[in-house]
Amino acid sequence: MSADKAVQDIVEPLANASIASEQKAEQIVDPWNVQGAVVDGKQMGIDYDRLIEQFGTRAIDEEVLKRMENLTGRKPHALLRRGIFFSHRELNRILDRYEQKKPFFLYTGRGPSSDSMHLGHMIPFLFCQYLQEVFDCPLVIQLTDDEKFLFKPNLKLEECIKFSRQNAKDIIACGFIPEKTFIFSNLTHVGGPFYHNVVRISRCITYSQSKSTFGFNDSDNVGKSHFVSIQAAPSFSNSFPEIFGTRSDIPCLIPCAIDQDPYFRLTRDVAHKLKYPKPALIHAKFFPALQGPGTKMSASVDSSAIFMTDTAPQIKNKINRHAFSGGGATMELHQQFGGKPEEDIPFQYLSFFLDDDAEVNEIEKNYRAGTLSTGDLKKRCIEVLQKFVADFQARKAAVTDEILDQYMTPKSMGVDLSAK
Ligand code: TRP
Repeated sequence: MSADKAVQDIVEPLANASIASEQKAEQIVDPWNVQGAVVDGKQMGIDYDRLIEQFGTRAIDEEVLKRMENLTGRKPHALLRRGIFFSHRELNRILDRYEQKKPFFLYTGRGPSSDSMHLGHMIPFLFCQYLQEVFDCPLVIQLTDDEKFLFKPNLKLEECIKFSRQNAKDIIACGFIPEKTFIFSNLTHVGGPFYHNVVRISRCITYSQSKSTFGFNDSDNVGKSHFVSIQAAPSFSNSFPEIFGTRSDIPCLIPCAIDQDPYFRLTRDVAHKLKYPKPALIHAKFFPALQGPGTKMSASVDSSAIFMTDTAPQIKNKINRHAFSGGGATMELHQQFGGKPEEDIPFQYLSFFLDDDAEVNEIEKNYRAGTLSTGDLKKRCIEVLQKFVADFQARKAAVTDEILDQYMTPKSMGVDLSAK
C-alpha cells in the first residue's frame, strides 16, 4: 500500500468508507460464492475473460470447436457453440486420445444439498450426456453428500444420504448410457481402492495449501480442509477397480462450472506428485438467476430459480414476474432504442436451451432492433422451458428404484484394459 493511500484510509471518515465499498466491489467466484463486480453502485455480470486470466485456463476457441466437429462428425453442442462451455485445461490431450482410440473417461459431480434440482444444475449433466454419447466412454458421477454434511451445519447425515438418491434420479433423467455410467454417493460407497487414493492425495496437500486455496480459517472444521482429497479421488482411474482394474494411467475429462476449478487445480498438482495423469477440464459459465446476470441461480433463493419440479403455470409466472429484462422501460422506448439481449434473462435462458441457431440469431437481432417486444421474447422463453421441464419430468417418472440401483452399482464397462 502506498503512503498516500495509508494516510487517506486513516483520515477518511468511516461512514464514507463503507459507502465506497458498497458502490465498488470486486467480483467473487469460489465454490461457495458467485457475485459479479459492483461498479458505481451497478451490479455487473461475471467477467469470464478475467476468470480465464486469474485461474490460468485456456479459452475455447474456434480451433477447438472445429477439432471437436471433425473428430466426432457432429455439430458441437449448443452449449459449446454459444460459448457457455468457454474455458478448458488440456482438452486437446483428451481429443488426442479419442483420435488414437485410447481409453479415457468423464467425471462430474453434484453436492446434494436439497431434493430440488433447478435448471442451472442441469447444465453440466446435459453437456456430459452429449459428451458420453459422442465419445461412447465411461462416466462417473460423484454425489458429495459428505461435503454437504460438512459445509451445511443444519443438515443431518441421513438427510444428505436421502438427497443423494433423490438427486441421482434427476441425473439419470438426463439420459446417460446405463452400462457406462456409475453414480455413487460418497457416504455410501467410499472404501477400498477409492479410499486408498483419498489418503494418498491427502498426504500430498498441506493444511496451508487447502486454507489458501479455499479461504478457510482456524474456526472451520477440519473436515472442510480434507474434503478436497475426496473430490479429487475420482479423477484417477484406479479409484474404480470394477471399471479400470489396477490401471492408474487412464486420464479423465471433468466438465464442471468454473467455480469448481480450485479443487482441480490442487488435484492436478497432486497428480504430478503421485505420477497419475492430470485431469483435463472443461468449464461452464454460471446459469444466471432470474433476477439478473450478476449471480447464479440458487436453490436456497426460491424466487431466483426454476425448479425441475415446477409446473407449466409456475414457470410462466416466474418468467413473467421475476425474470430481469433487458428491454426498454416502455414500449415506445423499446421500439425506439431496442433491447439489450446480453442483459436479458429470458434471452439468456433461450441461448442455453434453444438448439436452433437460426431462431436464436433472429430473436437476438429483432430484440436488439426493438421489433421484438419483451412480452413476445418472454413468451418464447416460457414455451421452451415448459417443454424442457415437462420432457424431463416424463423421463424422471420412468426412473424406478431398480433402474437407480443399476446406475449406482459399480460394474465393468467393457473398457479395453490392454490398450495403452
Ligand atoms: N462440489 C460439487 C458441488 O458442490 C460436487 C462435485 C464433486 C463436482 N465432484 C465434482 C462438480 C466434479 C463438478 C465436477 O456441486
